[in-house]
Amino acid sequence: MTERHEQVSEPDTDFDRLIAEARQCHRCPLWQQARQMVFGEGPLDAETMLVGEAPGDREDVLGHPFVGPAGHLLDRALQDVGLDRKGLYLTNAVKHFKFEPRGKRRIHQSPVASEIKACNVWLEAELALVKPKVIVALGSVAARGLTGHVVRIGASRGRPLPFGETSLLVTTHPSAILRMEEPEKSENYALFLEDLRLIPALIAHDSS
Ligand code: URA
Repeated sequence: MTERHEQVSEPDTDFDRLIAEARQCHRCPLWQQARQMVFGEGPLDAETMLVGEAPGDREDVLGHPFVGPAGHLLDRALQDVGLDRKGLYLTNAVKHFKFEPRGKRRIHQSPVASEIKACNVWLEAELALVKPKVIVALGSVAARGLTGHVVRIGASRGRPLPFGETSLLVTTHPSAILRMEEPEKSENYALFLEDLRLIPALIAHDSS
């Protein structure tokens, strides 16, 4: 398995060069507010790529994807279905945190279509490098970043779509589950697990 790249020391691989380039990205205004660009992480030969929306507050501070509350829920779900996070490539459709300052707090804002489109060049580059067999879009921003159009989660979940050489699985974003009240929360968590459980069969299907 190719080594995980969490920090860039020497830009001497295609991946390192990509990150170095993305760090200079001014394709949309989000770089001005965020502390840093948060690139994807994971094995470069991962069979599964999980795509989220954009880094949140913790991700912006720490510089890694899915390390805040949504990441903790994702970790729990991966554990519940027996998937090892270390074997997955995790990234976001948009690589800078978007927020509205409110006093000392930074309130998350969803990226708009122009920001998703501007950031697509990095997601495309990650897809070209990793060449996953299965792509999981976590929420509508990720689905839009990948497909270029609006995807309704309810209508698409549980039904993987062909996506180039790969399968695209569209499911709920863990942050959306966190915001729900019971019993909707538990119901949606169970549906999220059902979707994640499809991954091994999709990989096996692709390999056959
Ligand atoms: N939400 C996302 O979509 N991505 C992250 O990395 C964190 C929270």
